[in-house]
Amino acid sequence: MSDSLFTPVSLGDISLSNRIVMAPMTRDRAGEGDVPTQLMVEYYAQRASAGLIVTEGVQPSPVGKGYWRTPGIHSAAQVEGWRKVADAVHAHGGRIVMQLMHCGRVVVPANRGFEADVIAPSAIPCPVQVPGPDGTPMDCAMPREIAAAEIPALLEEYAAAARNAIAAGLDGVELHCASGYLINQFLNPASNHRTDEFGGSAENRARFPLMVLKTLAEAIGPGRVGVRISPGNPYNAMDPSDPAATFGPFIAGVDALGLAFLHVADMALPELDTLAFLRANFSGAIIANNNLKADSARALLDAGKAQAVSFGRAFIANPDLVERIAADAPLAKPDYALLYTGEARGYTDYPAYSA
Ligand SMILES: Cc1cc2nc3c(=O)[nH]c(=O)nc-3n(C[C@H](O)[C@H](O)[C@H](O)COP(=O)(O)O)c2cc1C
Repeated sequence: MSDSLFTPVSLGDISLSNRIVMAPMTRDRAGEGDVPTQLMVEYYAQRASAGLIVTEGVQPSPVGKGYWRTPGIHSAAQVEGWRKVADAVHAHGGRIVMQLMHCGRVVVPANRGFEADVIAPSAIPCPVQVPGPDGTPMDCAMPREIAAAEIPALLEEYAAAARNAIAAGLDGVELHCASGYLINQFLNPASNHRTDEFGGSAENRARFPLMVLKTLAEAIGPGRVGVRISPGNPYNAMDPSDPAATFGPFIAGVDALGLAFLHVADMALPELDTLAFLRANFSGAIIANNNLKADSARALLDAGKAQAVSFGRAFIANPDLVERIAADAPLAKPDYALLYTGEARGYTDYPAYSA
């Protein structure tokens, strides 16, 4: 029987030569002006045998930046930088989509290197510390509430970012709706206390997130837009309770848009079989993630619970993860102390396997 991990698949307009996806991972290696560096070109090219790479989170605007040395997609220089990344991945036969990550309230201003607002659905600070420029945990800034009148401009920022990603040659975008960043802040009752049409009921909390997805689909075509969620994930002070209620109206709206894929970090919740819930409410392709090994990933594909699977940490120290899985070769372990140093060490110096 053929190995489901190595069966080609199309996610919307994006055709993958295998079903092993590299999950998005922030690595803090952007250069001056939040422009992708040559080091990043090398890093992504090394991992291009993945059926699809989802880039690290990329800010669609300066206001979307919260962490140190994260790349953007709102300036001409950033577009040129990403073009080198996309060209290198394509030259190695890979596919790559950009994760659009607006941090919302999860911002340490010292990480930005410029002055900009900190915005969120409500003026509630994120009660979690985030590493500052030297790695020391620092408090997040107090955000100001986004005015309803600002929503059209925010949507236009997302549309411009998606058009820029396509102009840079990427194959599409993934909207980061997980892990407590801006979109998740709208969806979640802990961070959204609004009393207008963007707050209150789960339907209202899903309104802005769905407007963003519709805007992205109109900007670059629904077959090039994916979405990432992590129901029940308490990261960045999200209320993890009742994930089906929080995500139900959102998933219904996502399903209607006909997007390329739904990427889910399955938190293995006691109260919800997340993959079964999504399969029952979403008719498109699902990329499953979180703590997978080759065997458990294959089992999800074989059972039809997912159409592709993603690996995060395994790609850090195994640039040739796809080849290692194919050869049943051992996996190298990453050095977690080197995740965010900004250097080549612990980033591009993990070798491919040699028996
Ligand atoms: C260093 C690191 C950075 C990450 N950055 C992001 C990110 O920018 N966006 C995102 O959606 N998830 C991010 N994640 C989560 C991963 O995409 C993935 O969901 C997580 O590692 C679980 O998958 P795994 O068990 O295969 O590692 C990050 C994870 C790690 C380890």
